[in-house]
Amino acid sequence: MGTILIIILTIALLQSEVHSKVDGNWTDWSTWSACAITCGNTTQTRSRACTNPPAADNGTDCEGTSDDYQPCLREPCPVDGNWTDWSSWSACSVTRGSATQTRIRTCINPPPAHKGTECEGASEDYKSCVHKPCRGWGPWSEWSSCSSTSGVGIQHRNRSWYSWPSFTSIDDLCDGDYTDVQICMPSAFDGGWTQWSSWSTCSVTCGIGLNQRTRSCTNPKPSTFGDHCVGPNIDVAICNKQHCPSPVRLRDGLLEIYVNGQWGTVCDDEFDSNDAKVACRMLGFDNTQTARLRSDVVRGNVSMPIWLDNLRCNGYEDSLLECSHNGVGSHNCNHSKDVGLVC
Ligand SMILES: *[C@@H]1O[C@H](CO)[C@@H](O)[C@H](O)[C@H]1NC(C)=O
Ligand SMILES: *[C@@H]1O[C@H](CO)[C@@H](O)[C@H](O)[C@H]1NC(C)=O
Ligand SMILES: *[C@@H]1O[C@H](CO)[C@@H](O)[C@H](O)[C@H]1NC(C)=O
Ligand SMILES: *[C@@H]1O[C@H](CO)[C@@H](O)[C@H](O)[C@H]1NC(C)=O
Ligand SMILES: *[C@@H]1O[C@H](CO)[C@@H](O)[C@H](O)[C@H]1NC(C)=O
Ligand SMILES: *[C@@H]1O[C@H](CO)[C@@H](O)[C@H](O)[C@H]1NC(C)=O
Ligand SMILES: *[C@@H]1O[C@H](CO)[C@@H](O)[C@H](O)[C@H]1NC(C)=O
Repeated sequence: MGTILIIILTIALLQSEVHSKVDGNWTDWSTWSACAITCGNTTQTRSRACTNPPAADNGTDCEGTSDDYQPCLREPCPVDGNWTDWSSWSACSVTRGSATQTRIRTCINPPPAHKGTECEGASEDYKSCVHKPCRGWGPWSEWSSCSSTSGVGIQHRNRSWYSWPSFTSIDDLCDGDYTDVQICMPSAFDGGWTQWSSWSTCSVTCGIGLNQRTRSCTNPKPSTFGDHCVGPNIDVAICNKQHCPSPVRLRDGLLEIYVNGQWGTVCDDEFDSNDAKVACRMLGFDNTQTARLRSDVVRGNVSMPIWLDNLRCNGYEDSLLECSHNGVGSHNCNHSKDVGLVC
């Protein structure tokens, strides 16, 4: 009878456990988000949530992602044309009997594309001028530097004429242009590092600190189409200053310790060779075996605090303050019991 009851109970328990486990299931996908552009490309998203139902009681989570993307492609956006800068004026030249100077610009900055508008206005500009008599051209100069340092620009070169001593007739005028212009792109040059700066001062005045030096990508600064410098612009190094000065000193044999911005003394109650070793180690002595008390010292005066009493060092501590003691400034001594020391 009892066995049957237990079996029934066990089955009931197992079933309740099987029943309570709920695997997660996705909701249906939402509709795609709107494709809110009239030109160019973007993405559309849709999403679903693992709440139909959510996973419960150790059931498995939904598999797959909750967000879905698809590209939304439209016609490329129109690009309106834009003029380059005007070139400089040409020299005075003669065509069909009249002397003029010319300058030009070109609609390639950028050129119109995808039904964008053409540049408005004229690509050439004239003004009249007074021409000097001449008889043949000299050589071209070097090209000037590009008028733009970041985009499309214009550069020019000049030539000069061999002039007559005096004007004789229209036939003496040179044909052709004094100035020659062309489209140019600024040359792409890569950035370069400056020298490293000198090392900064160490971040600490004693103990282990850090210092750093820097450089910048300005030698030269990369042009618009050039590459940036490779590598870090900061360099950090460990600067190992000497040990921090110990906050103890011996003044004519009197042991003094610096606490709370004030030098004070140590009471000799319970002061033994282990305490002396720690004090001597703080003073920078490697061999502390010879450390011993010394009585022939001028004790501290009444204006000095007595900082430590009942010191009980093991001899291996790095500071007297690490040893057991009555608490800083807590003592039942007077200065006649100040510790004197030989290291
Ligand atoms: C998950 O939800 C969908 C949509 O409501 C339903 O058709 C499907 O049967 C469910 N699957 C499970 C395992 O519950
Ligand atoms: C838009 O997508 C098409 C097809 O993937 C691609 O050819 C075109 O360069 C894209 N346009 C822009 C502006 O990204
Ligand atoms: C879920 O599984 C853990 C470890 O397998 C189990 O300790 C806990 O009782 C289970 N919780 C439920 C509600 O089944
Ligand atoms: C056209 O080019 C000039 C000169 O490069 C520039 O200053 C201006 O911003 C450009 N305008 C447009 C609409 O691109
Ligand atoms: C060409 O001549 C113009 C003036 O006539 C002058 O401003 C310009 O610097 C000259 N350019 C070169 C490259 O010699
Ligand atoms: C006590 O000693 C300190 C440190 O040597 C000194 O500056 C101070 O003048 C002395 N005070 C008296 C009252 O002797
Ligand atoms: C220090 O205290 C002792 C008694 O504990 C006393 O005999 C001595 O006179 C005191 N010395 C000073 C300098 O106060």
